[in-house]
Amino acid sequence: MKVSFSKATINTIKADSVIVFTFSDEELLNSTADKLDKFLGGQIRSAVSLGDFKGKEKEILVLYPLDSGLKARRILIVGLGEREKITLEKIRRSCAVASKRAQSLKSETIAIEFPNYSLLKDKIDEPLSYISQSIIESSVLALYKFDKYFTDEEKKNKKVREVILFSPDDSREIREGVRVADIVCDAVYFARDLANAPANEIYPETLAEKAVKSGRKYGYKVKVLGKEQIQKLGMGGLLAVNSGSARPPRFIIMEYNGNPRSNERYVLVGKGITFDSGGISLKPAQGMGEMKMDMSGAAAVIATIQAVARLKLPVNVVGLVPATENLPSGSAYKPGDILRTYIGKTIEVDNTDAEGRIILADALGYAQRYKPTAIIDLATLTGACVVALGYFATGMFGNNEQLMEEIKKAGEKTYERVWQLPTWDEYDQLIKSDVADVKNTGGRWAGAITAAKFLEKFVGNYPWVHLDIAGTAMLDKEYDYQPKGGSGVGVRLLVEFFRNKAKGK
Ligand code: BES
Ligand code: MN
Ligand code: ZN
Repeated sequence: MKVSFSKATINTIKADSVIVFTFSDEELLNSTADKLDKFLGGQIRSAVSLGDFKGKEKEILVLYPLDSGLKARRILIVGLGEREKITLEKIRRSCAVASKRAQSLKSETIAIEFPNYSLLKDKIDEPLSYISQSIIESSVLALYKFDKYFTDEEKKNKKVREVILFSPDDSREIREGVRVADIVCDAVYFARDLANAPANEIYPETLAEKAVKSGRKYGYKVKVLGKEQIQKLGMGGLLAVNSGSARPPRFIIMEYNGNPRSNERYVLVGKGITFDSGGISLKPAQGMGEMKMDMSGAAAVIATIQAVARLKLPVNVVGLVPATENLPSGSAYKPGDILRTYIGKTIEVDNTDAEGRIILADALGYAQRYKPTAIIDLATLTGACVVALGYFATGMFGNNEQLMEEIKKAGEKTYERVWQLPTWDEYDQLIKSDVADVKNTGGRWAGAITAAKFLEKFVGNYPWVHLDIAGTAMLDKEYDYQPKGGSGVGVRLLVEFFRNKAKGK
C-alpha cells in the first residue's frame, strides 16, 4: 500500500474517503461543523442537534459532499472525545476505526486530515513527526488483511491503494513521520504475513529464505546455517527439538552495521518454532493450528532488522533465529532426554512442549560471541504469560533495570506495552534438575517466570531482556488496528527502541 503526504486542504484534497477528526467539546464540534457544513448543506449541525453525532471516541459520521465543489467522494468525521482527555492512542484508535469504515465502503484512496496541532500539543508530549507517524501507522495497520489464500475474488477485500495524510502546512516533520510510518508498517505487515502463513508454507528453510531476500533487498547481511553447521557448533538443543521433524533446522544470522565506528552491538533473538505440536508431550488438538504462529518472535526480529536497515539507523544490530518444527515421531526427542547446549550446559527434558527455551538456550549462548551491549529475545514462550497478562501486555524479564526501563519507555510510546515480572533467585529451585544443569519445566506455578529463569542461565553476564509475547503476538479477535491472528508485536517497540539509541537516548 502506498502512503504519502499531500499539501492540501479539505477544499482541494481528492480521495474516495476523507477522514476528519473532531473533539466532542461543544465549541470544537461546532467549529468542525462550521468548517465543513458549507460543503455539506448543514448536515453536521443537523446531526449534532438531533444527537446523532457527538464526537465521542471512535464515533463516525459519514457524509456525502455532492455538488459541493469538493473532490472528496465521502467525508468521514471521526470523534476523539474530549480534548482534555486526548492521548496519542485515542487518535490511533479513532483513525483505525475510521480507516476500516472507509475500507468497508470500498474506498481505494483514503485521505486523512492532519489534526490541529495547537489543540494537541499541551496534551501530547510528542513532536509533529511522531503524531504524523502514529496516524499513518494506525490507519495502515488497521487495513491489513491476510487474504491471499482465498480464491474467490469476492472474498478478497477490495484493496485500499493509498493512504494520504494532508495538511495545508507542508511541514518537514509531518513528511518525516509519513516516511518512517511507511517503513514501519511494511515491516509489521511482513511480520504478520510470516506469522499468519501456514506451517506448510513457512518452515525453517522458507523462513530463512524470507530473511535472505529481505537482506538482499534492503542491504543487510544474512547467513543461514544448515543442519551440519548446527551440528558442528554443538547446538544440541536446536537439534533435539528438530529431531522429530522431517524438515531440517536452520539457524539464521542477520547483521546490520549502521554504525561501524561504534563498539556497541545489540543482539536480537527470536523464537522460530514454525509449528509447535508439543512433540511427544503432544498438545491437545483444540486450537493447535494457532501454533503455526510460534515463530512470531523470529518474525519480529527479522522485520525489525529490515526496518532498522531501511531507516539507516546508526546502530549495530544482529538478529539470531533458531528455526525448527516441534513434532512427534520415532526419531523425536523425549522426556527424560539430557541435552548438551552450545555453551556446554546440559538440560534435562521434562516436557518436549517446553521447546522454545531449549532452542533459545543455543541462540542466547551463540549471542555471547558478539560480546553484545545487550541481548533482547522475543518468544511466544509460555501459556502462563497469557494467563498472567492476557493480550494487552508483553511479559518482560531481565537482568538489567536500565535496559528494561528503556524498553518500557518505548512500549508506552508505541503502545506495545510491556510489564515486568520478577526473576528473583527463589524461582531457581523450581528448575533444578537431579541429573543435569537445569530442567526445562518448573511445575505448575509461575510458568512464565521459570521459563525466563531458564533462559537467564544462557546469557552469561550480558545485559539481557526477555519478552514473552505469547499473549500479544497472536490475537483471537480483531482490535482497532490489530487484526485477528498475527499482530506483528515487537516491531514497533524495537524500532522505537533503536531510534532512541540512534538519538543517543
Ligand atoms: N508455544 C508455546 C507457548 C504458547 C502457548 C504460546 C499459548 C502461545 C499461546 C510453548 O512452546 C509451550 O508449549 N509452552 C508450554 C510450557 C510448559 C510445557 C512448561 C506451556 O506454556 O504450556
Ligand atoms: Mn511448546
Ligand atoms: Zn512453543
